[in-house]
Amino acid sequence: MTTNTAVLEARDLSRTVDQPGGPKSLLRNISFRLDQGQVLAVLGPSGAGKSTLLRLLNRLDEPTSGTVLLQGADTRDMDPRTLRRRVGMVMQQAYLFPGAAAANVRYGPAQHGIVLEDSQVADLIRQVGMAGYEDHDVSTLSGGEAQRISIARALANQPEVLLLDEPTSALDDLSKQDIEHLLASLVRERNMTCVWVTHDVAQARRVADLVLRLEAGQSIAFGTSQELLHA
Ligand SMILES: Nc1ncnc2c1ncn2[C@@H]1O[C@H](COP(=O)(O)OP(=O)(O)O)[C@@H](O)[C@H]1O
Ligand SMILES: [Mg+2]
Repeated sequence: MTTNTAVLEARDLSRTVDQPGGPKSLLRNISFRLDQGQVLAVLGPSGAGKSTLLRLLNRLDEPTSGTVLLQGADTRDMDPRTLRRRVGMVMQQAYLFPGAAAANVRYGPAQHGIVLEDSQVADLIRQVGMAGYEDHDVSTLSGGEAQRISIARALANQPEVLLLDEPTSALDDLSKQDIEHLLASLVRERNMTCVWVTHDVAQARRVADLVLRLEAGQSIAFGTSQELLHA
């Protein structure tokens, strides 16, 4: 077999920002490649550069050097909005605007001229365990419920890659478990390629195929979950 193209590849990614005291290195020489359906956990303490890395993957920030390839194509050559449709993101706090759950789910596709049918919206909301909540105002939802709707909102774009930035860490213990389970099963069912940031080693062990450990912006370990977390 010839070598296949990675779904997502980071090559030597670095990001340095200018600060009053001089340049500050946020991330240094990070590389990985993910095939279809692989889940990479990015583990590291607060301030390690985990969110910085995710933001480079969908161009919310730009690297100082290095390259991100999506299906073999340099993401710098893509319109950032198109890129963010193809590389979806779910953050720690549910990312929703005031109004009905359905309106939130419709928003992403509408940005690209796609009008979802009512049945498609209902189906997405059902898939995140919120059947019948289309007309509920998101301000009335619990943290876990709101996170479910932000997941539906991300899925509505049919992303090729899903970026998860500590998607359970703002939730109470019970919702944490529920949302982890929901995300893990959605990712597995759809064979989605996923970068899952967490500071929870046990969570990484449960959900990830590959693990990247970050400390102070540098990779201190990269390998399979089996090698790094089950030893
Ligand atoms: N735009 C920025 N300018 C300066 N420093 C930043 C900027 N963004 C993040 N940082 C710093 O970079 C480091 C890594 O941040 P972050 O990627 O958010 O870490 P993590 O998500 O692992 O907690 C932190 O020290 C943070 O304060
Ligand atoms: Mg972070």
